[in-house]
Amino acid sequence: MTSICFEHVSKWYPRYQSLSYGIKSSLLNLPATIRSLKRERITVLNEVSFRIRRGETVGLIGPNGAGKSTTLALMAGIVEAEGGRVSVTGRVSPLLELGAGFHFDLSGAENIVLHGVLLGLTRREVLSRMDAIIAFSELEPSIHQPLRTYSSGMIARLGFAIASCLDPEILLIDEILSVGDLAFQLKCNAKIDEFKRKRITMVLVSHSMDHVRRLCDRVIWLEKGRIVGEGEPDTLIPAYEASTRARHAENRPSAA
Ligand SMILES: Nc1ncnc2c1ncn2[C@@H]1O[C@H](COP(=O)(O)OP(=O)(O)OP(=O)(O)O)[C@@H](O)[C@H]1O
Ligand SMILES: [Mg+2]
Repeated sequence: MTSICFEHVSKWYPRYQSLSYGIKSSLLNLPATIRSLKRERITVLNEVSFRIRRGETVGLIGPNGAGKSTTLALMAGIVEAEGGRVSVTGRVSPLLELGAGFHFDLSGAENIVLHGVLLGLTRREVLSRMDAIIAFSELEPSIHQPLRTYSSGMIARLGFAIASCLDPEILLIDEILSVGDLAFQLKCNAKIDEFKRKRITMVLVSHSMDHVRRLCDRVIWLEKGRIVGEGEPDTLIPAYEASTRARHAENRPSAA
């Protein structure tokens, strides 16, 4: 059964540009200026198609700006595609960029409730899992402090604890595992193994090839908004690393 399906998905944003002809002439020629601003766009994903089956753990890899986080945001329904079709079957628990969706003036405990309700649970359902979430995060001493007093590792702990204790069907994880300390990483790995056994679908974005190799069944490699390769971690990761090294060597000024 398919959990996530992308069919020729394209995403673009308007390009913000300076008014190169000066403000005065741009204002005098306003319709033309608006037309030119609308025409200019940055294509972030270009005709991307793939399928993720229920129970798979898929890694998205690729350089900075390749479109990995945008792909997760489309899966979570946070942004919409300009072209193509995104279909997702199951309740999505997104663990996106650090602190995304959190309110920094609220306490850790208040953020747990807020997040749970945003994910579609009732307040009572969230409260019944509150103790488990706090225990998993190991943040009990600070759970009533405002989030702005948390370190980035503490925020990652809270995010992972919430997403993983609220019965996800599809878990999206963007670069969060490497922020926590070793003990927390081990705990996350164990939880992810447990999810794999329960056939929870997971999509993991990471620059740590060790994480991807250890956790993922399949890898999708993105570059400049296109899929460059798709396959088993053992074949695709060495290819990605070799391509990155080759590019690095090309760009390095020759030692003269
Ligand atoms: N809201 C936005 N407006 C304009 N451009 C955007 C927006 N969000 C993302 N982009 C652009 O989309 C491209 C892909 O961004 P994305 O965050 O998906 O990359 P990424 O693969 O997650 O990179 P990283 O490894 O650095 O996290 C980048 O060029 C980025 O500037
Ligand atoms: Mg990203």
